[in-house]
Amino acid sequence: MKVRKAVIPAAGLGTRFLPATKAIPKEMLPVVDKPTLQYVVEEAVESGIEDILIILGRHKTSIEDHFDRSVELELELQKKEKEDLLKTVRSISDLANIHTVRQKEPKGLGHAVLKAERFVGDEPFAVLLGDDVVYHEGDPCLKQLIDAYETHDASILGVQTVPREDVVKYGIVDGEQVDERLYTVNGLIEKPGVEEAPSNVAVLGRYVISPDIFPVLKKTPPGKGNEIQITDALLTLSEKRSMYAYDFKGRRYDVGDKQGFLQATVEFALRDPSLKESFKEYLRSLKL
Ligand code: G1P
Repeated sequence: MKVRKAVIPAAGLGTRFLPATKAIPKEMLPVVDKPTLQYVVEEAVESGIEDILIILGRHKTSIEDHFDRSVELELELQKKEKEDLLKTVRSISDLANIHTVRQKEPKGLGHAVLKAERFVGDEPFAVLLGDDVVYHEGDPCLKQLIDAYETHDASILGVQTVPREDVVKYGIVDGEQVDERLYTVNGLIEKPGVEEAPSNVAVLGRYVISPDIFPVLKKTPPGKGNEIQITDALLTLSEKRSMYAYDFKGRRYDVGDKQGFLQATVEFALRDPSLKESFKEYLRSLKL
């Protein structure tokens, strides 16, 4: 079945970015000139997704406003004959059908995804985490995973290898490599210690999941951090049906972390034709 729907959990408190996130959601912090969430929405749309459900927490209005039309702003830009900006602003609201729902209590990623049950219905769906922005010149990360889903008719986790000391930050796959980019999922563990990690193959915020995850999620007890973890539900599902991890092509940034956010800012600026040369010159001039 075609993957048409995506879920983007955006209900986190963004404590790693306080005080910036005191009054605005972390997903609205801009990398160059776009909120990080827009990069994620664009990846979904470029991967063929038609409907997106954003799971919101506090401070939800700026996210809703960003993906909605802004009639006053459009009129003003029209009056001033700023055609390029007008096009940019309009294109955001035309990206996809964006729906929102609110997660009232922060009970974890698994709990957030469960809020999407009605929206998803009986179809396979994608999950994209807002902290992970992936840049790739060819097929976007999600498109690569959707293709793998369609080939193998099984849930797919987007993974890359990470330095051994970083396994503590991710869901880690215990798998067997069956192809250049494909692993079977034989086990999964959320943020293991360095010693207990079965590998350094980490789930990096992209999933294509079959809808039979929902009954499993309902029965999944709180795990790591006393939160309902999507990783635990996926482990249970993998014990019933085959599941794969796909080592996607692309440069992934952890924009939920200051260092990753700064790297994304510098690298996206260097890719922007209107900034590239002057910004490079500025970086070279820094006597570090
Ligand atoms: C979440 C998931 C984890 C995954 C990570 C990717 O953790 O629980 O399995 O590896 O995203 O960024 P979080 O970073 O939200 O704590």
